[in-house]
Amino acid sequence: PKVTIVGAGNVGATAAHIIASKNLADVVLIDVAEGLPQGKALDMMHMRSVEKFTVKVTGTNDYADTRDSDVVVITAGIARKPGMTREDLLGVNAGIMKSVIGAAMEASPNAVFICVTNPLDVMTTLAYRESGLPANRLMGMGGVLDSSRLAYAVCEQLGCPPADVVAWAVGAHGEGMVCWPRFTTVDGTPITELMDEAAVAQAIQRCVKGGAEVVAFLKTGSAYYAPGASIAKMVEAILTDSHEVMSVCAHIDGQYGIDDLYMNVPVRLGKNGVEEVVEFDLNDDELAALQASAESVRAGLANLPE
Ligand code: NAI
Repeated sequence: PKVTIVGAGNVGATAAHIIASKNLADVVLIDVAEGLPQGKALDMMHMRSVEKFTVKVTGTNDYADTRDSDVVVITAGIARKPGMTREDLLGVNAGIMKSVIGAAMEASPNAVFICVTNPLDVMTTLAYRESGLPANRLMGMGGVLDSSRLAYAVCEQLGCPPADVVAWAVGAHGEGMVCWPRFTTVDGTPITELMDEAAVAQAIQRCVKGGAEVVAFLKTGSAYYAPGASIAKMVEAILTDSHEVMSVCAHIDGQYGIDDLYMNVPVRLGKNGVEEVVEFDLNDDELAALQASAESVRAGLANLPE
């Protein structure tokens, strides 16, 4: 299989590295910066005999080289600096997303597309409107990362191994994020039975603020190791047709009482992309929180240039 990653910056190159290390697919890195994708790809090929992967990583500035990809991941765009919200990136990144999606689609009309560029929900919606792609073949990466940040907080607080934790963070990929503690489990037991209310609230705060915490440390940009791994996890589910359910920024069409909106929800992934939006059995409060998060995404969409 072949995976194209648009944007050979921190997130794109890290995703490429992890996809190659797992031997999942040949990877084509493409960027507007000349030399950057070529140099990083060659560097990764130099790693090949150390890590013993057999797939190829190549770098290019020409979409012709991305032809007939199975999956296209879009990470092109500027990232946050300290004090910035994801929404502050909208103006610049909307222009980039518009130029990228058309060119990438022309080269790979049958691919599954994963948007990563922030503000995620708005950028994924923009790509959907611009491309006319069927909703199952266009999604965004946000929820896998957010859920994994929640899982980290739970592991830290309870001292449990990561393999025992299943965590769910859904909704807007931003301040309007929603965590589902009742469905977040350690060895099958909900954290609501393992932690008191204050501890649960603290874990949720660490999840919601996790991205900003990394930005505050780095000062020069935003997170990329956990985002890269989250991209690779989604790519693997698609390429292996795993039918795994994970939190994905997908097109919601009536589920959870939400209409025609891109936002993180539990989704079953397979070779055709989104197989279904999975509806968890929410109580009234959880449903209201998810719908409020949807409204925050709609408010962000109002800023989208026509
Ligand atoms: P970066 O600045 O390291 O890399 C961005 C790359 O995009 C640069 O190499 C730049 O040359 C390239 N680029 C710009 N315009 C382009 C175009 N028209 N075509 C092709 N390439 C182009 O930024 P980083 O850290 O990799 O972040 C990328 C994006 O991903 C940002 O918008 C960031 O906010 C977002 N992000 C999203 C996450 C998520 O969970 N959805 C997590 C982390 C980052």
